[in-house]
Amino acid sequence: MFAINGKTAVITGDTSGIGLATAEAFLKKGAKVVIAGRNAQRGADAEGRLKRVAPDIVFRQTDTSDEDDVKALINFAVETFGSVDIMFNNVASAAWHPSTR
Ligand SMILES: NC(=O)c1ccc[n+]([C@@H]2O[C@H](COP(=O)([O-])OP(=O)(O)OC[C@H]3O[C@@H](n4cnc5c(N)ncnc54)[C@H](OP(=O)(O)O)[C@@H]3O)[C@@H](O)[C@H]2O)c1
Repeated sequence: MFAINGKTAVITGDTSGIGLATAEAFLKKGAKVVIAGRNAQRGADAEGRLKRVAPDIVFRQTDTSDEDDVKALINFAVETFGSVDIMFNNVASAAWHPSTR
């Protein structure tokens, strides 16, 4: 794997599931990590859990469907850690439509 030691990663949707596991893996490799989700309590819980892995991790309450929120997330990451080197857009949504066939 390429070196991520000292790099800053912003990972969206990481207060649970795949994103949370990814944030933990990045921290173990020496990255600084900003995690983001909508629910403040889940975010605080995830931040507390991840801080036991490594100290350079912060939660920012963010709804990735809101463009201004995403801009604020990136600005927050730069203000906190000085740069954004890696962006992991883990949050996704899909719209399912009934088949027309
Ligand atoms: N698990 C699978 O087998 C699988 C398979 C294929 C694809 N995926 C995709 O991989 C991604 C992660 O899956 P997962 O299973 O780890 O999901 P998950 O456990 O449901 O976690 C989703 C995370 O995203 C956050 N989130 C959801 N909507 C958000 C929004 N609008 N803005 C910011 N944060 C948001 C949630 O926190 P809040 O609710 O607090 O915002 C939570 O931290 C999803 O996009 C999913 O569609 C998963």
